[in-house]
Amino acid sequence: MTPANTTPEWQALEAHAASMRGRHLRDLFANDPQRAVSFSRTSGLNLLLDFSRQRVDAETMRLLLALANARDLRGRIDAMFSGEKINTTENRAVLHTALRNRTERPVLVDGQDVMPEVRASLQKMRTFVEGIHGGRIHGHTGKTFTDIVNIGIGGSDLGIVMATEALAKYRNRNLRLHCVSNIDGVQLGDVLEKVDAARTLFVVCSKTFSTLETLTNAKLARQWIVDRLGEGAPARHFAAVSTNAKAMDAFLIPPQNRFTMWDWVGGRYSVWSAVGLSVALALGMDQFELMLEGGHEMDEHFRTTPFENNLPVLMGLLGVWNRNFLGLDSLAVLPYDQRLHRFPAYLQQLEMESNGKSVTLAGTPLQYDSGAVLWGEPGSNAQHSFFQLLHQGTARVALDFLAPVNASSPFQQQQNLALANCFAQAQAFAFGQTEAQVRQDLAAKGTGESEIARLIPHKLHPGNRPSTVILFPRLGPKTLGRLISLYEHKVFTQSVIWGINAFDQWGVELGKKLAESLAPALEKPGEAAAGAEPSLRNLLEHVARWRG
Ligand code: F6P
Repeated sequence: MTPANTTPEWQALEAHAASMRGRHLRDLFANDPQRAVSFSRTSGLNLLLDFSRQRVDAETMRLLLALANARDLRGRIDAMFSGEKINTTENRAVLHTALRNRTERPVLVDGQDVMPEVRASLQKMRTFVEGIHGGRIHGHTGKTFTDIVNIGIGGSDLGIVMATEALAKYRNRNLRLHCVSNIDGVQLGDVLEKVDAARTLFVVCSKTFSTLETLTNAKLARQWIVDRLGEGAPARHFAAVSTNAKAMDAFLIPPQNRFTMWDWVGGRYSVWSAVGLSVALALGMDQFELMLEGGHEMDEHFRTTPFENNLPVLMGLLGVWNRNFLGLDSLAVLPYDQRLHRFPAYLQQLEMESNGKSVTLAGTPLQYDSGAVLWGEPGSNAQHSFFQLLHQGTARVALDFLAPVNASSPFQQQQNLALANCFAQAQAFAFGQTEAQVRQDLAAKGTGESEIARLIPHKLHPGNRPSTVILFPRLGPKTLGRLISLYEHKVFTQSVIWGINAFDQWGVELGKKLAESLAPALEKPGEAAAGAEPSLRNLLEHVARWRG
């Protein structure tokens, strides 16, 4: 496929962007009283995508949709859903959508329908989860489990943390979930202080079962169980989720406690697979399956809806517009619901690991930007920390606001205030505050003319910061499933436009390799420093000096 920027559609967008760059959202709204409605979409999925505060007009959308067609987005969507090996650097199909396929449609990989295995895995998860909830599956000494410790990192952790926080309302009250990812031992140490070995189940979650952080924590946890309950205990106190049967053998995970996944599921797309076991343990299998249903509904929407009404496609195209044509290199995700506080962190891996690439599928250097830097925090808190820079700083950042209409707490009036803040911010970022408004405000307070003149530059809000508001009735498992799937397909849409592989992550390998080779040096830093290359020597010498 030709590089995106050599297509006439891209070039038309560049020409169009030159005229759009000078236009302010104030004028776009002033010139079109219908704008809020015509630049919003609902999907029949109880999600409102209001992109009227993006710096686009009807022509922008027409050109972006033409670009999507020119990049054969429809064909690529079909290729993904039908199990083509679109992850070309790993020669793998990309079928997280099969994990939430709620239809009877077969999904073929190498001519084999994977759906029977997917359904069997869900059934095995259900049996296990219900066995633990019902006390039929218990610890080595016969006690029921009260604590689950998920040990995993990246895609084997972030989705679990995010989903169980988002859906905390549905948590099983008799079972606490702890998630341990960091290699430094702090999280694991803190958890082990709190739990009773006889009542604790560890779920080792690792697609490869070779990730240093996860294996280090898992081995330590195993030893901790052996020390307290004896050699035979781990068989009852460990479950595992992986594609790596041999490694699960080596870790002595018994067959009934093993959950498989497949190489056609990427780590950051895996919460829908048995990687979601800890989610299901925390919330119940019914809630987990509702999440799958929500994800599936969004899949169907993405697969079948014309692009002009297709939420993930529109989001993806707007991201491309901001990144490549307006030069915005950062996207802040701002949920107005504390329950979604880990959603930005989840999306960070999803978007940045997927689209943080600088070569095309064919391996040639990109001549344009790809994935933006994604970050964020609950909006309410962010307003009192980093919003200042977003309003008046020199960095230009695009924003996604997410909010449920109905409270995730018993306090609806408080959610009303959260919504008021969310909408107010969307307005403030779009329209800013003009000199005339600042002058009027200050004059009304009796401020003198020279003081007004002095303050005006400091109080001006330029506005014209683009944002999208994603509004939904309430946060539940189905809605969460839809939201995750919405962003997954947005990421895919962008990767197709850019012509990159969203499903590999070679960039993380170098650091892993270096860390493994450096690990022995940290055991004997003094000795290692002597032979180390100069860039490391200084650090190792300090470690040796300060080691207590
Ligand atoms: O750091 C890269 C990565 O491979 C992620 O893509 C993945 O989600 C994470 O590590 C954990 O990998 P695994 O599930 O194999 O332990």
